[in-house]
Amino acid sequence: MTSRSDSNLFSSLTIGSMTLPHRIALAPLTRCRTGADRVPTDLHALYYAQRASAAITITEATQISPMSIGYVGTPGIHTEEQVVGWKRVIDASHTCGGRVFIQLWHVGRLSHPDWLDGATPVSSSAIAPQGAIRDPNGAMVPYVAPRALERDEIQATVRDYANAAKNAMRAGADGVEIHGANGYLIDQFLRDGTNGRTDEYGGSIANRVRFLREVTTAVVDACGPSRVAVRLSPSNRFNQIWDSDPIALFTHVAEVLNEFNLAYLHVLEGVDGAPSAPASDCPRVAPSIRAKYHGILMINGGFDAVTGDAAIRSGAADLVAYGVPFIANPDLPLRYRLDAAITPPQRATWYAQGAEGYTDYAGMRVES
Ligand code: PHB
Repeated sequence: MTSRSDSNLFSSLTIGSMTLPHRIALAPLTRCRTGADRVPTDLHALYYAQRASAAITITEATQISPMSIGYVGTPGIHTEEQVVGWKRVIDASHTCGGRVFIQLWHVGRLSHPDWLDGATPVSSSAIAPQGAIRDPNGAMVPYVAPRALERDEIQATVRDYANAAKNAMRAGADGVEIHGANGYLIDQFLRDGTNGRTDEYGGSIANRVRFLREVTTAVVDACGPSRVAVRLSPSNRFNQIWDSDPIALFTHVAEVLNEFNLAYLHVLEGVDGAPSAPASDCPRVAPSIRAKYHGILMINGGFDAVTGDAAIRSGAADLVAYGVPFIANPDLPLRYRLDAAITPPQRATWYAQGAEGYTDYAGMRVES
């Protein structure tokens, strides 16, 4: 790792065989643009190619298996057609100088039988989310209680992660990011608010971290450590996730992940005032993770050019991921570098269909 003391948002960083020209990553953003086959299309290729000046492009959350699905229009990486689709996306990004990590996702309990050919969603425990989920017809239907995964099913799910990681490598990805954040399956194992298991995957912090450790081991075996990252969201309440002691939990996770020599650890914990800032009843956890974790740390959540630069200069992190600003500013690193105008986001088209609000944002015009 390079020295932290004289770094800023625009200094380079080396990770494995990758040399990043700056510290501005594209955060994973669900954009819901696939068809029912969940295959990335030429439109995805254009979208990611437009944003290839990111230091690292993290793709939208991508299902590892049919049981991982819970939303309309999100891609997968478990069929051959999806691998071919991702290869076209990654080739396009590479042509434009990009480096792409595919985010590996299983929604766990945040699904519905209507997304799963009638099967009951799975989780660490049979604890139902409150409220409703959008079904394939667009109607809101109540969540159902998930089924707790049996131990042999846990091992099969770990293999699904490894298989998806191998598929990502076959598609030419530079790496994969294991989605351990935002209340999805891995987070459902990590937190005592959703994990009520009494076997070796529940109870103590070490037991609740076991699933993440096994997934990380399998994915590292598939790709090599410098091509694997993990994303966590220790302090938000997204998707009704909650833990009684997030500092103890996530500092332990950091210590476990130290064993792997990963590409980076990605922590979503916004700056004060941002929606991603810690919930009012949750402490800030990223500084405690920084203190324990020895590898490269990426942070994300409500940063701008000034606060992101300050985070690098102060040593709070090594990389800053930007999500919302990248949607309407495909050339965000250049704009930050030149202190140029930033186009405001237009929420109405974030999850729309087609090119509108997706690939129709102009980059800056550079007159010669
Ligand atoms: C979403 O599709 O709403 C979504 C997906 C992945 C996340 C967060 C939100 O991490």
